Amino acid sequence: MYAQMIKSEATQDDPEKLAAFQARIDRGEKIEPKDWMPEGYRKTLIRQIGQHAHSEIVGQLPEGNWITRAPSLERKVNLLAKVQDEAGHGLYLYCAAETLGVSRDALTEMLLDGRMKYSSIFNYPTLTWADMGAVGWLVDGAAIMNQVPLQRTSYGPYARAMVRICKEESFHQRQGYHLLLKMMAGTDDQKRMCQDALNRFWYPALMMFGPSDKDSVHSAQSMAWKIKMNTNDELRQKFVDETVPQAEYLGLTVPDDGLVWNDARGHYDFTQPDWSEFYNVLQGNGPCNAERMAARRKAWDDGAWVRDAMLAHGQKKAARRKAAE
Ligand code: 3HC
Repeated sequence: MYAQMIKSEATQDDPEKLAAFQARIDRGEKIEPKDWMPEGYRKTLIRQIGQHAHSEIVGQLPEGNWITRAPSLERKVNLLAKVQDEAGHGLYLYCAAETLGVSRDALTEMLLDGRMKYSSIFNYPTLTWADMGAVGWLVDGAAIMNQVPLQRTSYGPYARAMVRICKEESFHQRQGYHLLLKMMAGTDDQKRMCQDALNRFWYPALMMFGPSDKDSVHSAQSMAWKIKMNTNDELRQKFVDETVPQAEYLGLTVPDDGLVWNDARGHYDFTQPDWSEFYNVLQGNGPCNAERMAARRKAWDDGAWVRDAMLAHGQKKAARRKAAE
């Protein structure tokens, strides 16, 4: 899909080069932008980092929606900071992707014309203030579960971007949990809002880890290349195991009748998400897909004059420099 953007490498199929590359990965070495890499490795990284970057940017929308309605100055400042952090994460990740030979403009255009995805979770609406707590606790919580191992991913620029991102995501997770703790100490209506938020976000959060391992197209190769460090199901299980006691501490009920601690496995048994809903959202039919894409398209169109002005300025500067030579 990205072949046209990616520099062709005459040696890409050279078995010796491939073996040497895999040996570097197996030894735990980092691959850096100027190192030789197989075409598939580069494409997979562009796909994953690009999708990740788009998720950070689109992820600002459901929460940005609540900044003007935050119930106190402190909560407003927290939420503002969180949304700004997400923009920053998007930019680190676009920069990491650019080291693979693809421009940020090209990545954005691929998002807008449907060739690239963003995380399914951001196609769900944020209906009440309690959703700000649930998003921080569950969505950022799931993101951290996935991203902490990615700090050890084999591609240097991606791994380094993840270090900073994870520090900020953990602040996001805590502020969401803190918000729910406060609301759960409040009125019955506030408690009901928290339970309703958990009911709506639980399964979409589980879907963030991707399809079950048997349906994951990329996991096997991505794990061999250490682009992914764990399978989708491993991370989903870890998330459930860590999150259920947190829900209990809040006094909330996880909306899953099949949820039960399994002593023999040392894990919770739980009901899988409705995968038909997941694929439906991926196909653009979630509750907010159209709204999210319209917002991104508008932002891109509204920013065209800035990109044009920067380009014209750059061209003028280059022409002046050339004339002076
Ligand atoms: N949403 C949208 N698409 C998803 C998805 C999800 N939750 N999970 C999987 N998919 C897509 C994959 O992109 C792939 O489609 P493609 O071939 O067209 O690209 C297809 O479903 C099959 O899934 P695979 O398991 O084979 O795909 P991956 O190996 O790429 O695994 C992943 C999916 C676990 C999400 C992996 O890409 C990953 O770890 N990505 C990095 C983390 C990331 O992108 N996180 C976004 C979370 S949101 C966020 O961080 C914002 C923060 O502020 C909360």
